[in-house]
Amino acid sequence: MTLKEKYKDYFRVGAEVNLHTINTHKELIIKHFDSITCENETKFESLCPLPDKDTFESADAIATFAKENGILLRGHTFVWHNQTPEWVFKDADKELLLSRMKNHIQKVGKHYQDSMYCWDVVNEAIEDKTDLVLRDSQWRRIIGDDFMEYAFRYAKETLPNTPLYYNDYNEMNPVKREKIYSIVKQMKENGVPVDGIGMQCHINIYEPGVDELKAAIERYASLGVRLQFTEMDVSMFRFEDHTVLNAPSKELIQLQAKKYKEYFKVFREYHDVIDCVTLWGVADDATWLSNFPVRNRKNWPLLFDDNHEEKEAFYAIMDF
Ligand code: XIL
Repeated sequence: MTLKEKYKDYFRVGAEVNLHTINTHKELIIKHFDSITCENETKFESLCPLPDKDTFESADAIATFAKENGILLRGHTFVWHNQTPEWVFKDADKELLLSRMKNHIQKVGKHYQDSMYCWDVVNEAIEDKTDLVLRDSQWRRIIGDDFMEYAFRYAKETLPNTPLYYNDYNEMNPVKREKIYSIVKQMKENGVPVDGIGMQCHINIYEPGVDELKAAIERYASLGVRLQFTEMDVSMFRFEDHTVLNAPSKELIQLQAKKYKEYFKVFREYHDVIDCVTLWGVADDATWLSNFPVRNRKNWPLLFDDNHEEKEAFYAIMDF
C-alpha cells in the first residue's frame, strides 16, 4: 500500500522535492505522492535573480517531471521576505515595488499556469516575535500594510482558476494563529481573493499537541477557506535544543511515530476542509532540518530513513 492510495479518499499526500531529489528519490516520489512542491526552485531568487535575467530551467525540469509522472505541482512562492533578490527592493518606492511585484506574478504565473495547481501567493508575512501583527519586511515597509492585498489581486487576475494560499509557520501557536486569522478575515471582508491557508506544520516530536492542531484547523476553516498542510516535518529536537546526536534512540523514533499518527488522525477527521498534506522532503538523507536551526546537525524528521526505507512513522500512519 502506498501513501497516496491510503489517503485517496481524504486528501492528496505531497512531498517537497528539488532538482537533485527528483533523481535520487524518484522511486519513492512516484510511488507515494500525488503532489510535489519545489524546495527552492520556484522562489523569486531562483527564477529571477537579476532584473533582466530569468532562470526557469530548474523549475521547468521539475514541472516536466511532475507532468510525466501524473503528479500535481504546488507553486511556492511569489511574495516572501526571504530568498528574494535585493534588486527587487532597490531604489523602490511604492509604485515601483508594486509594478515589480505585479510583473513577477504575471510572468511566473503565466509561465506555469498549466503546471501548478495552486500557489502560495504570500509566505510568512505575519510577525511572531513581537506584538506587531505584520512582519516588518521590505514589502510592508515600502508598499504599506496592504501589500498582501495587491499580491492576491494580481495573482487572481493572472490565474483566475488557481486556488491562492496564504502560507505561514508557527501557525498553531494561539497568539500567531489569531493574528493570521484576523489578517485573512480582514482580507476576505475587503473582497481580496484568498482561497486558502497553508499551514506549514514544522513541528517536533513533543509539540504542538493535537488540541492546538484542532483549534487552528477549526479557527482557519471558520473563514470559509480551504486548508493545506504545506511543509510538514517532525523534528527530533525542540527548536531551542541544540543537542547533537549520531542516531535517534528507539524512544525518539517511537515518539515521532506517535506524533505523526496523532496528526494524521486529526487530518482525516477534518478531511472535508483539507486538500493536501505535504511533507517537507521525502527521506531523512535530504532534509533542510539537517542544517536548520543548527548547521550540520543531523535530524530525522520524515517518513523514510537515510536508506529510503519505511520508518515507524510511516507504518504508524498506514495502519489505521
Ligand atoms: C527552506 C528550504 O528547505 C531550504 O533549502 C532553504 O535554504 C531555506 O528554505 N518555510 C518555507 C520554505 O516556506 O520555503 C523553507 O524552505 C522552509 C521554511
